Amino acid sequence: MINDTAWKRHTVKLLPDPAQPLPGDGLSREAVGAMLAAAGAAPFHRACAAARAGRGDPVEPWRVHALDKAACLALIPRLDTLSTPPGKIANMLAAADALLLVTWLPEEGEGDWGASEMNMEHVAAAGAMIQTLLLAATEQGIGSYWSSGGVLAGEAFGLLGIGAEERLLGAVFLWPDLPDGIEAAPGKLRGQRGDPERWTRWVDAQGIEAPGS
Ligand SMILES: Cc1cc2nc3c(=O)[nH]c(=O)nc-3n(C[C@H](O)[C@H](O)[C@H](O)COP(=O)(O)O)c2cc1C
Repeated sequence: MINDTAWKRHTVKLLPDPAQPLPGDGLSREAVGAMLAAAGAAPFHRACAAARAGRGDPVEPWRVHALDKAACLALIPRLDTLSTPPGKIANMLAAADALLLVTWLPEEGEGDWGASEMNMEHVAAAGAMIQTLLLAATEQGIGSYWSSGGVLAGEAFGLLGIGAEERLLGAVFLWPDLPDGIEAAPGKLRGQRGDPERWTRWVDAQGIEAPGS
C-alpha cells in the first residue's frame, strides 16, 4: 500500500447526548498546532485577495478557527439561541476533543461568491489543506470527521467571531478514543468506493500522436 495513512483515515461521527458530554480535557493547543503545521504544508496556487491587497494578511487562501474542548462545550447552549436548530452538531460538540472550522476566502468579498478559476483554486487548496489535516490526525491515532458544518456554516459565524467574507469548507471534528456505549456512525458513502480503474482512463500515445508522425 503506497500510503497506509490515507487508507486508515475514515469518517467517524460520535453522537453522545449533548446533555451528557464525554469526559476528558480534549486535545491541547500544542497537539492541534502540530497537526495544523502539517496541514499548512498543503499546496496552494494563488495568494488570497486580502494578501494581494498588501495589508499584510496571510497569503494562504484558507483560515482556521480552532475550538478546544472547553469551547466546544460552551458553544452547545449558545447554538440554541440561533433560529436554525443545531441537530446533530450539538451531539458532536459534546464528543469532540477539538473542532477546527476551516474556511476559504472568496475573491468577490462579501455576499454571494461567483464561480471563477481563482475561486476554484482557492477551494481546491483549502480542500488539500483539510485532507492533510485529516491524515495528520490519523497518523496520531486520532479519529476525525469532515462535516459541511450545518448551522456552523452560517448563523454561528457571529457567535464565533468569524468574518462574513469567509466561507466554511469543513468543520473538522477530532475525537477521543471511542468510549463504550456511545453511538458512532460511519461515512455514508464509504462502502460505495470503487477501484481506481472505475474512475481512471488511460490515454493511449497512439491517440495523441499527430497523423504521419
Ligand atoms: C466537502 C465534504 C463535506 C462533507 N460533509 C459531510 C456532512 O455534512 N455530513 C456527512 O455525513 N459526511 C460529510 N462528509 C464526509 C463523507 O460523508 C465521507 O467522506 C464519505 O461518506 C466517505 O466516507 P469515508 O470518509 O469514511 O471514506 C463530507 C466530506 C467532504 C469531502
